[in-house]
Parts: sequence; C-alpha cells; structure tokens
Amino acid sequence: MCGIIGVTLRRGCLGGNAVPLLLEGLRRLEYRGYDSAGVALQVCEDGSCSLRVYKAKGKVEEVIARYGLDKLEALTGLGHTRWATHGPPSDVNAHPHLDCRGEIAVVHNGIIKNYASLRKMLEEKGHVFRSETDTEVVAHLLEELVASGMGMLEALGELVKLLEGSFALAILYARDPGRIYFARRESPLYAAIGECVSAVSSDIPSLLHISRDIVAVEDDEYGYIGPGTLELYRDGRRVDWRTRVKRVEWSVEEASKGGYPHYMLKEIMEQPRAVYETLVGLLEDPAAVEAAGLLAGASRVYATGAGTSYHATLVFKHFMHVYAATPVYDYISSEHEEYESVIREGDVLVAVSQSGETLDTLAAVKAAKARGARVVAVTNVVGSTLSRIADVTVYTRAGPEIGVAATKTFLTQLVALTYLAALVGRETGRLDEGDVGRIVESLRRGREAARSAERLNPHIKLLASILLRGRTRSMFLLGRLLGAHLAREAALKVKEIAYLHAEAYPAGESKHGPIALVEDGFPVLFVGTPGVEKRLYSNMEEMKARGAKVIVVGVDSYGDAPADYKLLVGSYDEVAAPYALMPPLQLLAYHLAVLQGYDPDKPRNLAKTVTVE
Ligand code: F6R
Repeated sequence: MCGIIGVTLRRGCLGGNAVPLLLEGLRRLEYRGYDSAGVALQVCEDGSCSLRVYKAKGKVEEVIARYGLDKLEALTGLGHTRWATHGPPSDVNAHPHLDCRGEIAVVHNGIIKNYASLRKMLEEKGHVFRSETDTEVVAHLLEELVASGMGMLEALGELVKLLEGSFALAILYARDPGRIYFARRESPLYAAIGECVSAVSSDIPSLLHISRDIVAVEDDEYGYIGPGTLELYRDGRRVDWRTRVKRVEWSVEEASKGGYPHYMLKEIMEQPRAVYETLVGLLEDPAAVEAAGLLAGASRVYATGAGTSYHATLVFKHFMHVYAATPVYDYISSEHEEYESVIREGDVLVAVSQSGETLDTLAAVKAAKARGARVVAVTNVVGSTLSRIADVTVYTRAGPEIGVAATKTFLTQLVALTYLAALVGRETGRLDEGDVGRIVESLRRGREAARSAERLNPHIKLLASILLRGRTRSMFLLGRLLGAHLAREAALKVKEIAYLHAEAYPAGESKHGPIALVEDGFPVLFVGTPGVEKRLYSNMEEMKARGAKVIVVGVDSYGDAPADYKLLVGSYDEVAAPYALMPPLQLLAYHLAVLQGYDPDKPRNLAKTVTVE
C-alpha cells in the first residue's frame, strides 16, 4: 500500500502556491506507507515548463526538511508516500519516477503484474531504467506512446489496456501545464473538485483540506484534472461525473478510518484487497520459488514466529504436511533456546513476522543461522531487519496495519505460506503443475471469501451482545486440524482486545481435562473447517450434554451442526476456508471489545511491535 496525491491550482487562487496543499495531503497519507516519500513539481517560466523531483528514503517530515520543500512554490505537483513492494526503500526507488527525458513523472499505488515483460520490451527499445520498481515502466511506456504520436490522454487510454494488475496512478507531463493525469484499477483513487483547485488522491482524508466535493474514480477510468475541473474517460469515451459528486461531511479523523469507527474494523474489511494483492505479488515473485527450492532441499524444516505470526506457522505446518509430506517443527520464537541444540547445517528455518522487527523472532533467526541453518523470512515490511538477515524473503502485501491486533497481516501470511507449501509440494514431486494451479485458484477465492466480514457483521455483533448479556468472562474455541490453528488465533484476538479469557485447543482434547470447566451456559465456539464435520459434531454433543452454549462459525457443510448458534460463511475448500472463517472471528473479538467500551485499536499493555525480550 502506498499513498499518491496530485494537486493543481489556478494562478492567483489560495495564495498562488499548491505546495502547502500538497504537503498537507502527503502528511495525511503517511499512514499508507512511510518508508520513503517524494514530490514532483511542475515549474513554468517564460512559457515553458519543466519537472523538478525531490524524493528520498525516510519519513515525510524528513524528506520535507531535507529539501526544504515547504519553501518551494508551484501551481501543480504530485506527491507519494511509499510502502515498498518492488525494490527496498531507497532514494532511487522512492517515487515519483521519470521517463528518460524527465518530462513525465509518475506516482503509483498498486502492483503492475506484467512489469517484468514490459520493462524488457522497453529496455530493448533503449529506455534506461534507474530504479527496481514496477512503477517506472509506466513513465517509460507513456514516453514511448507519446513518441509514437499520441497525446497524453490517448496514451493513457492505451496504457490502461497494456497494464495488468492494480494501479492508482497520477502523472505530470511537462508539456501540459496545470494538468494532472490519472488512471485507476483496483487501487483506490478519489478526485476533489474545488472552486479553483483540484486534486486526486488515494484516500478522502488527504483531500478534505482542498474540497469536500469528492468523486470516486472507478476501475479502468482515466483522465485528468485541471484547476477546478475534471475530465473522466473510459475506453476512449467521456464519462459524466457530475452526478457522482458526493459531499463528504466526515471529520479528517473519521475519514482516515475510511468512515469506520476504528482502524481494526477498517483493516478487517480491507482483507479482500490485502489477500488479493499478496497473491498477485507472490505469483510474480521469484523469491517464492527460490524459498520453495530451499525448503524442498532441506534436511529438516523449522518454523517460528510470535503471537499471530506463530499461528500462521501452524497453518504452514498443516499445508506442508498435506502437500509436501514434509514434517515442520514449529516453535514460538521466544522459546528458541529449546531448539538450539538440534538445529544444524542443512536445516531451513521459516521465520514469520509482519513487522520483521520482533526481537524474539530476530533472536531465533540469529541463533539458527549461527548453527548453520538457512532462513526463509515471511514479512510485510520490505527492508525490515528480518528481511536483511534472511537468506530469502517472501513478502506479504497487506500494507501498513495501524490497529495493534494483527488482522489483515495474518490472512496475508496464510496466503504466502499456503502458496509456499504448494510450491514445496511441486518441488518434492508430490504435486504436479495442475495441483498447484488448483491451489492458486482456491487462494484466489480468498478475496471473495474474506467479504464474509461485511455480510456477517450484524450477526456477529448480535452474538457478541448475547455473550456479554450472559456475563461471559471465559470461553473455549475449538477446532480440528486447520480449524484448531484458526481457533488459537481467534482466542488470541478475544484475549488481547476484549480482555476475556479465551482458550483454544484441538476439539478432541476436550475430553482430556478442559471439559471439567464447562457448566451451564459456558460458551464453546467451534471453528468449522471442511472435512472434520462429523468428528466436531461429536465434540459439540459432548459439550451440549454438559450445558455448554455451543456456537459454530463454519463453512456451509456445518448446516446440520448440533449448535445453539450457527454462522455459516459459505462453501469453501480447506485452502479458501480460512479467508472466510477468520474475518467473522476477528469481528467477534472486535465487538466483544467495543460493546464493553474498550478501544480495540490500542489494547492495554500491548505494543504493535515488540522489540524487547
Ligand atoms: C496479535 C499480534 C501479536 C503479533 C506478534 C508478532 O494480534 O499482533 O501477537 O503477531 O507480536 O509480531 P510480528 O508479526 O510483527 O513479528
């Protein structure tokens, strides 16, 4: 996830300088990415305009201070805050990116899937690339199209046809003063139209100081803004946007949460996109194949992480057993000393950490490396410490997560780890290309599956209120196999934000002790993954016989479950089921917290990234 913005102002309006408006927008976009920032300004003198680009690795304020951006003047400019996906954070990889002649500047949010083949084609035509980003192809491609005789608008129409993947683009062309071109597919883009100023941006809060009249740009639309104007096109035809203007009355704070009351809720709802972008990124990423090769050749495979990331390693273990028949030895990273005497050369450790900075996980990695093991990292932060010390890094593409509780980063870890396990299955000869293709198809369904959050939200809220009315202070979350791992993650969410005791374990284990706790009305929630229905039903009956209130959050095949309360998420196989099941479980924790008056974004005693032992 990155943030893009473009502002253009009519001469003589609002102090005659768009730079303060641009920088304010950039500051508000920083939550979308903060490893680098940059701006491009169109500066016109004596009837001719040129572009000036200022960009660097670092936070927005550092980049502003480094170049004294707040002292510059221009009527038209672009800005970008980066969350690296292709190429680590660096001055060169920061946006905006320029074409060879420095006449076209581009800022981008999203992933260009076919950038490698486009780059090859453009390099063969003599274009010289400066960065490792996917974005730079856009600048050179536009240069090529314009050189073939097209105007920028026509070139943009062609560009939209040529690009695969997701993009929100804002573009400055030196020869078109006062215009900012834009295009969008799947990544969000909004336009704000004021009296004598217009802007485009990745989100609404970064536009509210410019205008509250907002137009959402739709997929495959493109066009340009001028001061106080908007021109919108699709497939070469003009689109009438005037009926689409929405007056936004939100405060900036409300708007930065996308209209949701909390970041956690916004991030739960963002999961369809996060899951999709991670999958698209992985399918293009040679690191995934390299990591799978390393794992397939390993003497033994270990997996480690903390908290939610540890739970992701359990899902990895499950799929490695199913697809590759390769045992995975999982351990919580703070317990790494337990494994130091057994890990040795030839082993591979998979280290999972959304931040890539969790001290316990880094310590586990260093210890394993010191014993001669190789390390595959799975992380959400390009350039993080973990990515730097690992032998191979596979990235998730959830974008920054602001809520302390991990939600979208968990589901994106599952995408990466399931895919990795499938590739190992192929490398070891247990799966063929067709099998991997089917697994990828199921992962693709993850996007639609994760929409369960929106559909089921009112039902979950009701369930949370029923539980609280019943004075719930403690609950069990049970599942079998994959479902047991998801139950552990759901229990962690309930504990950390709703401050209720929630204990998870494999359902079959209930008879061996924990069931003694069950009394009349005690809530027991079953996570219903496909393939274990009948055995879970027996466990439900056992619980009911002791007076438990039995709840099922399951795929549709749990329709006959002997439960007091059933939430069915749709019909999914084992690969896609976690994406449908986890969002309602996260929502349950969320509503249990909010209904008790707790702030789910900032749970007590917790930090987003734990950099102490
Ligand atoms: C739970 C949560 C934590 C983190 C853990 C590891 O919601 O967020 O349990 O999962 O602190 O953090 P990372 O993944 O950054 O290593």
